Amino acid sequence: MCGIIGYLGHKEAYPLLLAGLQQLEYRGYDSAGICTSSDNTLHVHKLQGRVQNLTAMSLPGTRGIGHTRWSTHGRPSDRNAHPFADGKNQFSVVHNGIIENYLELKEELRKEGVQFSSDTDSEVIVHLIAQNYQGDLRQAVLDTIKRLQGAYAFCVLKNDREEIIGVRNGSPLVVGIGVQENFLASDVSAVIEHTRNVIYLNDFECARITREGVDIRTFQGEPCPFNVKEVNWNLEQAQKQGYKHFMLKEIYEQPQVVEDSLRQSLSLKTKFSRLIIVACGTAFYAGLVGKYLIETVAKIPVTVEIASEFRYKEPLFSAQELVLAISQSGETADTLAAVRLAKQQGIGTLGLINVVDSTIAREVDQVIYTRAGPEIGVASTKAFTAQLLTLYQLAFYLAGKDFKPLHLADQLRAVLSLNDQIKDLAQKYFHYQNFLYIGRNSQYPLALEGALKLKEISYIHAEAYPAGELKHGPLALVSEETPTVALCLQDSVYQKTFSNIQEIKARGGKVIAIATEEDEKIRSISDDVIYLPKVEELFLPLLAVIPLQLFAYHIADIKECDVDKPRNLAKSVTVE
Ligand code: AGP
Repeated sequence: MCGIIGYLGHKEAYPLLLAGLQQLEYRGYDSAGICTSSDNTLHVHKLQGRVQNLTAMSLPGTRGIGHTRWSTHGRPSDRNAHPFADGKNQFSVVHNGIIENYLELKEELRKEGVQFSSDTDSEVIVHLIAQNYQGDLRQAVLDTIKRLQGAYAFCVLKNDREEIIGVRNGSPLVVGIGVQENFLASDVSAVIEHTRNVIYLNDFECARITREGVDIRTFQGEPCPFNVKEVNWNLEQAQKQGYKHFMLKEIYEQPQVVEDSLRQSLSLKTKFSRLIIVACGTAFYAGLVGKYLIETVAKIPVTVEIASEFRYKEPLFSAQELVLAISQSGETADTLAAVRLAKQQGIGTLGLINVVDSTIAREVDQVIYTRAGPEIGVASTKAFTAQLLTLYQLAFYLAGKDFKPLHLADQLRAVLSLNDQIKDLAQKYFHYQNFLYIGRNSQYPLALEGALKLKEISYIHAEAYPAGELKHGPLALVSEETPTVALCLQDSVYQKTFSNIQEIKARGGKVIAIATEEDEKIRSISDDVIYLPKVEELFLPLLAVIPLQLFAYHIADIKECDVDKPRNLAKSVTVE
């Protein structure tokens, strides 16, 4: 997820683009760049690092484009920063999204003598536009997008044209309508201080902005009707796209994360007989689901270790083992130490990391990046789902099978539509001081994750157990004052968990069941039920986590906790 912006008007473009990029940094921040045009000449300044690095200089011109990057292809560096220009420095492009077929396009362009200056997928766009240009910039863009596969929004500037072209296909792009000046941007936060009149482009639409106005066409070049909307958000709301907290926005981004993750393919360099997963917190719980998936689908044994424990023991490695480090930030000290321990012992290391070029990503032998985009909320949500999705892909890859789950993203959207019911439940239960979470099989790690979510953002004590463990002690905790969230989706051990719920009810405990739609039996023994769509048992974890995230979120919000920045916690735990 990157931030892109374009400006064309009567003011100096550079300071305005810079300020707009600073508002877009929540979308990505590992490198940034600006291109302006004056006297038919393109001027570019781009650097690895934060947008702030661009303030040391300025560029002339009253039109320009800018970019702040969240790397997916090509490590963060000056050369991989956007904007990208063609060989004659006549065209400049900034891009947000993924060009899936960039390697074949790059090969084709190279054979035609094109010199590339970066390792990115985005750069193929500007070279194709330069090739297709025959005097009409918009037409050159429309001809180019016929060759592109993937999700993208990009802006194009030409050195001698008083226009900027923007296209949208799967990544957001808005037009800001000013007076004798117009804007293009990934979202309204970049333009809101200049105009509240915006047009939200739809997929497969192409906008051409000039000083005088905007003209929107379909990808086939047909005129498009459009509505100018007045935005009444303040800047902070705009960055959260109207959501009250980043965490809620990120919970709702999960279907998109699934769709982005399914666009990537993976392959491993190393063969192994056993996988050892090392991780912390939510990433560790993703690893527990990963164990279930890989052992079930690929029949490969998996051990999952808490990194802070693993790093201090004498691991008994054997040949043909592979250590998989799961980490959203790629900077977690305990997980990094576990990777270094494995490497010292000559064991292969693999990373499942969200932040490109982070320390762990650079130290493992091979890295698979998750496609969650920047996760701002301290409590991990979409990164967890991205980890799960990539673990599904890994399990099916190891089994030599295709992983093409149809409708998964839509099923997540269906679960998200339960938000109001879950918010009502939170209103009913927020005053309790203790919760139990239970589940079996792949639902047990979800119980752990659900309990952690509640603890870390609402500060309410919550403990998770394998449902079968209740009778070995935790049942003593059951009382009117300690509700239980029971993951009891229909799977191979449903009846066992059903019995556990009966044990709880027999002792006066309240139960909130997470169940499969049409399961009337469970309603008769539970105080409240959240019904999820029917899915194959294997996919239960991907759906079951969402009600747990929303339940914790709404309880924390009702308690007026600092949801995005919970007390005592940090987004990246870079210390022991
Ligand atoms: C989860 O909501 C927490 N933010 C925390 O447990 C986190 O998952 C853990 O610190 C691991 O972080 P990492 O994925 O960046 O390594």
